[in-house]
Amino acid sequence: MCGIVGYIGYREVYPILIKGLKRLEYRGYDSAGVALLSDELTIYKKAGKVADLEKIVDAGKTGATIGIGHTRWATHGEPNDRNAHPHKSQSGKLAIIHNGIIENYASIKAELQKRGYTFHSDTDTEVLVNLIEEVQKTEHTSLDNAVRIALNEVVGAYAIVILNLDNPNQLVAARKGSPLVIGIGENEFFIASDATPIIEYTKHVVYLDDQEVVVLNRDGQYYFRDLGNIEKSHEIQKLEFSLETIEKGGFEHFMLKEIYEQPKAIEDSLRGRMNAAQGWIKLGGMDEYINRIENADRFIITACGTSWHSGLIGEYLIEDLARVPVEVEYASEFRYRNPILKEGDVVIAISQSGETADTLAAIEIAKERQALIYGVCNVIGSSIPRASHTGSYTHAGPEIGVASTKAFSTQVSMLTLMALQLAQVKGTMPTSKIRELLVELENIPAKIEETLALDPVIKEIASKYKDATNFLYLGRGYNFPVALEGALKLKEISYIHAEGYPAAEMKHGPIALIDENMPVVFLATNMSAYEKIVSNVQEVRARKGKIIAVVNKGDTHIRQLADHIIEVPETAEILSPLITIVPLQLLAYHIAIMRGCNVDQPRNLAKSVTVE
Ligand code: AGP
Repeated sequence: MCGIVGYIGYREVYPILIKGLKRLEYRGYDSAGVALLSDELTIYKKAGKVADLEKIVDAGKTGATIGIGHTRWATHGEPNDRNAHPHKSQSGKLAIIHNGIIENYASIKAELQKRGYTFHSDTDTEVLVNLIEEVQKTEHTSLDNAVRIALNEVVGAYAIVILNLDNPNQLVAARKGSPLVIGIGENEFFIASDATPIIEYTKHVVYLDDQEVVVLNRDGQYYFRDLGNIEKSHEIQKLEFSLETIEKGGFEHFMLKEIYEQPKAIEDSLRGRMNAAQGWIKLGGMDEYINRIENADRFIITACGTSWHSGLIGEYLIEDLARVPVEVEYASEFRYRNPILKEGDVVIAISQSGETADTLAAIEIAKERQALIYGVCNVIGSSIPRASHTGSYTHAGPEIGVASTKAFSTQVSMLTLMALQLAQVKGTMPTSKIRELLVELENIPAKIEETLALDPVIKEIASKYKDATNFLYLGRGYNFPVALEGALKLKEISYIHAEGYPAAEMKHGPIALIDENMPVVFLATNMSAYEKIVSNVQEVRARKGKIIAVVNKGDTHIRQLADHIIEVPETAEILSPLITIVPLQLLAYHIAIMRGCNVDQPRNLAKSVTVE
């Protein structure tokens, strides 16, 4: 969603802001803007891409060394020039950028209007900057104090950064429910909604906490206060990723790069956490709370989108291997349906970004009701791990493509480790079986490499179906969630309507859709349900549907029934999603490219959904 970047120091700020905004493009946006502060406060903003913004900037006016930049994903008001950020206050002295939503903006706006304020946009952000200005005027106080007082009146979520014409040596920022990272250099500070615009300049960062205000001074001094005016301190942390990980590295798109990074991402997610030869699994996050986890009455997995799909695989894994009941809930439903929770419950919250508003809200509810929260997240230092009691990072590295790929497979590898460790401590599986699965888990990266080598075959299939208007994805057991994820990948980047179903559900409705124009993707690698899948394939064939089947190498039955087969290496059934998802990601990618779609930034989508 919206992206924030800011800088104060000795360098020319404009190139830093523009580069930073480009690095944040992956989050999804529909307008962009910058504010530059020298002896005047100049704002440039434009609907469209950062490249459109660059065209309107007066090259002669970019000498400032303090400034802020924003990419906006519209919530209040259309995505046009007027509503783009930054927004100035009435006096023209303050400029603000804002991520999030001010829920009570209408009543604040009405009050400010009574006091003579006029508004030039439809945004809640313009209301906030004027509220801050009004507090500054009435309380005769500093900007950071005014920000603190104003934020105490505000209901909602925000990450804000403010420039003040009266003090060109200071940036003031604050957050609640929307992330802000501060990069700490030598006599310079960077601020951004994630670390991607910062990594090029410094690896030293501080993550702002909720309900905190930070003041960054040009002389290198900085301090934090909470909204109650209590001083806070933070340890400086070191960023673990490198600049290369957020660049395309020779690939045409981030999505393709990230698909190909999966073998390494899975290795990274497993490193130091298991040893197949010795037969141990050791997740630090589990160890810390092992009593509560081992004795949990049930697990509730909550997440959104792709992370919810990996949660479904987690359900199969934990129930199958550790014999504990699991429920999987969309975070957006869970948070509003008054769920029954108790101390014996463990809630696993899964999220790539660690910032998804619905998942965060679900965590808060579960915490209030005494459940233990286990976060499975990719972005280090993000809000969900911070809100969780314990958890594990997936270590997939930055995922820039809006369509989640390596985040999904590393979530699945983490859930596999969790289920195996749980099975080990609960004694629900023989040690020899656990060891066998660990050996196979170690083989997965090499088997994904083999699967990636099928790319030309998949591209050829994509060329035949690129003009389809509908797709069905069918799978059973562990491959049912993969069918859902394959369908999601296709619809989000190619805009083709696609549905995933458990294969046996087909005859309860979707079978009516099948004719000679309907491509049906079967996940037909399951050993235990193979015969049943063969019957489902026959049912589609009888109705002239076009069959694309993902099968194990050497398959003989389905080969005779399908129009196309994709032969992937065989693995243990419980690990099969880690392999079968790969051809579906590639199929979606190639179809989207052939249809001329922007795969890395699909229309209407945001990388991290920080509003409900
Ligand atoms: C994935 O391809 C999607 N873009 C989306 O469904 C995503 O998985 C969902 O918004 C959840 O995000 P999170 O993992 O960052 O919480």
